[in-house]
Amino acid sequence: MFKVLVVDDDADLRLSVASALSENNYIVDQAKDGEEAVNRIRASRYDLVLLDVSMPRMTGLEALKEIKAHDPSIIAIMLTAFSNVRDAVEATKEGAYNYLEKPVKAENLVYIVDRALKAQKMIKNMSLSAPVLKLPNGTDFIGQSSDMKRIFGVIDKLSRVDTAVLIRGESGTGKELVAQALHFNGPRKDNRFVTINCSAIPETLIESEFFGHEKGAFTGADSRKIGKFQYADGGTLFLDEIGDITAGMQVKLLRVLQEKKFTPVGANREVEVNVRIVAATNRHLEEMVKKGEFREDLFYRLNVLPIQLPTLRERKNDIDALVTYFIEKFNQQHKKNVTGLSPEAMELVKAHNWPGNIRELENVIEHAFVIESGNTIMPASLPSSITRIGRPGLDDDEDELSAGNGDLDQDDGDDLMAAISVSTGGLSPLNVGGKGFTLDINRLDFQANKEEFERQFLISALTAFKGRINQTALHANIPKKTLLRKLQKYGITAKDYSGRIT
Ligand SMILES: Nc1ncnc2c1ncn2[C@@H]1O[C@H](COP(=O)(O)OP(=O)(O)OP(=O)(O)O)[C@@H](O)[C@H]1O
Ligand SMILES: [Mg+2]
Repeated sequence: MFKVLVVDDDADLRLSVASALSENNYIVDQAKDGEEAVNRIRASRYDLVLLDVSMPRMTGLEALKEIKAHDPSIIAIMLTAFSNVRDAVEATKEGAYNYLEKPVKAENLVYIVDRALKAQKMIKNMSLSAPVLKLPNGTDFIGQSSDMKRIFGVIDKLSRVDTAVLIRGESGTGKELVAQALHFNGPRKDNRFVTINCSAIPETLIESEFFGHEKGAFTGADSRKIGKFQYADGGTLFLDEIGDITAGMQVKLLRVLQEKKFTPVGANREVEVNVRIVAATNRHLEEMVKKGEFREDLFYRLNVLPIQLPTLRERKNDIDALVTYFIEKFNQQHKKNVTGLSPEAMELVKAHNWPGNIRELENVIEHAFVIESGNTIMPASLPSSITRIGRPGLDDDEDELSAGNGDLDQDDGDDLMAAISVSTGGLSPLNVGGKGFTLDINRLDFQANKEEFERQFLISALTAFKGRINQTALHANIPKKTLLRKLQKYGITAKDYSGRIT
C-alpha cells in the first residue's frame, strides 16, 4: 500500500483530502505545516506528499526543496488556490510532479495520485541501459544524452500500457517520433497509428474527422464516413497540437477518454472503440487552463503521464550523433558520399542556439548537402542563420537573396563575399550543387555574378526538392513569396525540376 502525507494549514481540507484517499486504500498521514511535514518525512518514508503552496512558518516551495533534498524519489503534488497558481507552476520546476487547484475535486485527486504513483513505479523499475526503440521506415531515434536515455526508458515502459500520454516540447524536438515510438514498440504495433493534426482541420469538419458522420448529416456529407477514432481501433490515435482543439471538441474528447464510446455526427447509435490516445503540444496548457481556454479535467486526463522533451540547446552533446545520423541519411537520399563537417563548420553548428531544434538541424544538414560539392561540409555551405552568430537576423519579409534593384545591402554583400573568398582561397571553387558556379576573375562585376549565383542556386535547390516550392523555400530559408518572385525574374519554372535527380 502506498503512503501519502497531506500537508495543509486548513484542517477541513486536510481531512477531506485524507478521507478521499483513505477510501481508496491509501495510508494517509497529515501535517499542518511545512516544518511538521519535513520532520515527518525525515522520520518515516512516504511515497507521495500533497503540499499546500501557502502555509505559515515554511512555504510549500521551501518545504518541497527540503523534502526533495531528503528523498528525491518522493512524488510531490502541490495544492494551490487559484491566486497562487504561479507558485505551483514554479514548484513543478523544482521537481513537483503536478499541482491541483483548490477546491480539490475528489475525482481529480484520486485519479492524479493513482497515476502519479503508477508512473513512478514504472520509472523505478526501469533498467538503466536505454532500450533500442523501433520506428517505422528505418528511422532511428538518436539520443546519447542522459535526458534522452531516460526518455527512451520511459517510452519503453509506456509503450506497454494503454494510458493516455501527453508529449510536450518545443517545435522540432521530436514529439511525433515519440508518439510513433510509443505505438511501434508496444502491443498495438500491428494495428494502425493514425494522426490528427488538430490545428490543421477547419472547425466545422473536426467532429466528423474525429468521429465520422452519417450520409446527409450535414451539407456536403454525401456518403457515410468513418472517423479517425474508428479507423484507429485497436491502435493508437495521435492528436498533434492538442492545444488547438475547440471547447466543444474538448468535451467530446474527454467523454471518449472516459467511456471509450462516441456518436458519429448525425448517427443515433454509439460506437465503442479501443484506441490509445497520445497527444502532443508545444503550448503551455497550464496557462491555457488558467485562462479558461483548455478544460482542466481534460488536462488532468492527458497530463497523467507527460513526457517533456528537452530542447536541442539543452543537450548539445547529442549534436555529434545527430549530425552523423543525418549525414548518413542524406548520403543515401542524395546519392552522395559526404564524410562529415569540417572542424570550423562543426564549431558553428555547436555554437548555434537551435530555436527550431532537431528539425532545424536536419534542414541545415540537408541545405549543406545541396550547396556543398566536396565530401566535407565547409562553413560556406551552411545557411547564413548558422554562420552569422551574434549578428542580427534578417526580417522574414526582407528580400534575403538579392538586391533586385541593384542596391547592395550589407548582409547580402557579405554572404557572397564569404562565398567568393572560399573559391579564391586556394580551396575548391564554389560549386553550387555540382552545377558549377565558378568565379571568372576577368568578369568581376558583382551584380552579374550575384544574379548568376542566384539563378544556379535556385535551380539546384529546386532540383533537390523536386520542384516543390514550399519545401524549397523552407530548406533554403527564403520566404516563399521571395522565392516565387525570383523564379519569375529568372524565368525558371518549378515544375521543370520535379523529376530530375541530383
Ligand atoms: N532524436 C531524434 N533522432 C533522429 N531524428 C529526430 C530526433 N528527434 C527529431 N528528429 C527528426 O526531427 C524532425 C522533427 O521531429 P518531429 O516532427 O517529431 O518534431 P515535433 O516536436 O513533432 O515538431 P513540431 O512541434 O514542429 O510538430 C523529424 O524529421 C524527426 O524525424
Ligand atoms: Mg509534430
